[in-house]
Amino acid sequence: MKKIFITTCLFFAILQSNSQQKVNPESIRQKMQWFADAKLGIFIHAGIYSVDGIDESWSFHNKKISHADYMKQLKGFTLKNYNPSFWADLIKESGARYAVITTKHHDGVAMYDTKMNNLSIVKATPAKRDMIKPFFDELRKRDIKCGAYFSLIDWTHPDYPGFLNDSSKYILEKDYERWNRFRQFFQGQIKEIGTMLNPDLWWFDGDWEHSAEQWESEKVRNIILSNNPKAIINGRLQGYGDYETPEQNFPVTRPKYAWWELCMTTNDNWGFHHDENWKTPYQIITIFIDVVSNGGNLLLDFGPKEDGTIPEEQIHVLKELGAWNKKHDEAIFNTLGGIPQGHFYGPTTLSKDSTSLYLFLHGNVDGTIMLKGLDNKIEEITVLGNGTKLSHKVVGKISWSPVPGLVYIDVPENVKDKYVTVLKLKLDKPIKLYRGQGGFN
Ligand code: GLC
Repeated sequence: MKKIFITTCLFFAILQSNSQQKVNPESIRQKMQWFADAKLGIFIHAGIYSVDGIDESWSFHNKKISHADYMKQLKGFTLKNYNPSFWADLIKESGARYAVITTKHHDGVAMYDTKMNNLSIVKATPAKRDMIKPFFDELRKRDIKCGAYFSLIDWTHPDYPGFLNDSSKYILEKDYERWNRFRQFFQGQIKEIGTMLNPDLWWFDGDWEHSAEQWESEKVRNIILSNNPKAIINGRLQGYGDYETPEQNFPVTRPKYAWWELCMTTNDNWGFHHDENWKTPYQIITIFIDVVSNGGNLLLDFGPKEDGTIPEEQIHVLKELGAWNKKHDEAIFNTLGGIPQGHFYGPTTLSKDSTSLYLFLHGNVDGTIMLKGLDNKIEEITVLGNGTKLSHKVVGKISWSPVPGLVYIDVPENVKDKYVTVLKLKLDKPIKLYRGQGGFN
């Protein structure tokens, strides 16, 4: 029954995220498999905004700084300590299976060697080099999938309708020739990124400024897929993407999408900023678990400095997350989202065959934990990454009733992980849950 329910949800979710396309759900499912298994991606906001440490693109759009002053940062972008192999090692160490980097943000500055105009870090900054290609090469050596963030919005391009958040925007409907020129430009960039870098995943941004018709979203999708039929496209293409991308906001109930990804900053900013409001490793790990238990991926961001170095705090967080992931690998990667709320007071995941249930003990839990409505025999309980076997007791099982008893497990202090302890419950068969109302049915 549970299987039918999940399959039905999955089917409707596929229909929903591809509502405007003719798709074959099975081929989409196959294409999405590595993404569903990946769980963790690293997001990188690299751009000239790191020179002054101000808001990426938004600072001039919202008139915190003039466009001319914003663009002066081009002169300070050096990449003089850029080490893509160190970046790729760090990402690998974090446990992430994919990385997504800005090839162009809303400010229009290409971080790769675009031939479509002169506004790139290759032609307009002292760095004088493409930072994306060498990074993708290093990621691929380590079997990490490569994602290209691409902003549809280009607030610096002369044919884009206005870079300021005010009435200076030209009216696109009255000047379609100009808009057509811009479309050729941005679609040309998409073609060259496809050819030069062949991303496994495209992460569009800024679709909200125009409609699918205005962007020609269907055509954009076709351009990408004709170059690489396996490319995954995020959901910011006005209905033509493959998965949803909630941003900075944590779901409380499980999202009804087949695939979704929470993108989140490690402090309060995407790019490098003078911002010390770092999330702690404990917070990042618990958020990550929460996302995975709800069937999603986490795309965790860092913002490198203009010289290509990564702030120490972000390195620290990625290493701590990586050490925790290494210890608890089997409970996170290649798993399924967990059981519905109400059975256990915490997040859970399931092995793909649903015969192992993983319980995550947030908040340094020790003492006794309880599990309700588990209609299985527990064959073995192991503390992951530690190997200790724990015993359990079934309480309140009434012989004539179909309602399972309560499972109590004692978790001793000495098996606790420094962040989140994980218990593996090996079950006698695929998980079966009692979802009724106790004595009332
Ligand atoms: C928002 C912002 C952008 C940022 C992105 C990351 O859409 O416009 O600055 O790059 O979120 O998800």
